[in-house]
Amino acid sequence: MAKEYKINFINASYRRFYEMHKEEILGAITSCLERGDFIMREDLDKFEKNLADYTGAKYAVGVNSGTDALMLSHEVLGIGQGDEVICVSHTFIAPFQETVHVGAKPVLIDVKEDDCVMDVSQIEPAITEKTKAILPVHLSGAVCDMKEIMRIAEERNLKVIEDACQALGSRQDGKMAGTFGDTGCFSFISPKLLGAYGDAGAIVTNNKEIYEKLLLLRNHWNITQNALLGVQLPHPEVMDWGHNTRMDNIQAAVLNVKIKYIDWIINRRKEIAEKYLAELEGLPIDLPSRKEGETWQEFIVRPKDREAFRDFMQEEGVELLIRDTTPNHKLKGLGLEHFNLPVTEKLATEQARLPIYPELTNEEVDYVIQRVKKFYSA
Ligand SMILES: Cc1ncc(COP(=O)(O)O)c(C=O)c1O
Repeated sequence: MAKEYKINFINASYRRFYEMHKEEILGAITSCLERGDFIMREDLDKFEKNLADYTGAKYAVGVNSGTDALMLSHEVLGIGQGDEVICVSHTFIAPFQETVHVGAKPVLIDVKEDDCVMDVSQIEPAITEKTKAILPVHLSGAVCDMKEIMRIAEERNLKVIEDACQALGSRQDGKMAGTFGDTGCFSFISPKLLGAYGDAGAIVTNNKEIYEKLLLLRNHWNITQNALLGVQLPHPEVMDWGHNTRMDNIQAAVLNVKIKYIDWIINRRKEIAEKYLAELEGLPIDLPSRKEGETWQEFIVRPKDREAFRDFMQEEGVELLIRDTTPNHKLKGLGLEHFNLPVTEKLATEQARLPIYPELTNEEVDYVIQRVKKFYSA
């Protein structure tokens, strides 16, 4: 049985959003049930259009998860055996896990201490004749320096896969994260800024050829699914190996409801972040920052004495998320321990996440602030 907190890290968010929009959400799900529309039906088409419109990308392809979006991105760009892909270790493990799954080698570089995303000055020294792609990860809403990454990629003829799983809605120079590279990968797993009721993901691209190939790759190259789809998809003249990684139609229906509220979600998160920043300034706790246009997928602090801070906050009823005690590349069994990434290794022992979901009440945000102050006054 999970411990009950006065303010839990994320679960209350799901329940509260559902209560706020119950009729619309149930209406969307019921409509799928009544139509018998479960796999690759109009709700998915609609969501792909909604996502493309929202991000400004030409095309969007709904898939099963952010992880599969990354996997298909590697495949569609022809990355495989013998290739190297430059990524960071300071991230959820999925991006370079998928590099390994296509038979290529991750080359991990460090992040910057101020915004915790890829240190682009380390890209060029990491390039070898085997380098095929750069895989920047936009973390917690902060966007990597895409101008510099695209400059290097163009000069060196490298592909770019953007992991924008934590950056839906974040902009750099007015352009949405995920739309700079060859492909942009999104996750809609429940805790994300736009969360489905389970797993879901998507890839965006501006390249028609990539788009058309992704449609085939996600669905067994369109070979056998006609009875499920209710339409006869044309068989390609030449087959290749595909996958089953379609976004579930019911999840798409839920996301079509939630995406209508994305501005509210982003603005409310910003409001909470600004309150935390104003109230916690001056305490011995490092606070995050964002550049113009970036969103707040997470609010990550670096408290002095992290474990005591966590224990105190949890004792006071505030659930924190502390995830990265051992950095990914130092986990035993992955064969990545030879990478030495001082900033990544430092951050792993220092970071803690405060709750920032948009359904938090002002009273709850104040409660979190008061508890943090109390910890430091003790
Ligand atoms: C940065 C990053 N990349 C990839 C993923 C993988 O997405 P999913 O959980 O939908 O497979 C996640 C999130 O969970 C993530 O945060």
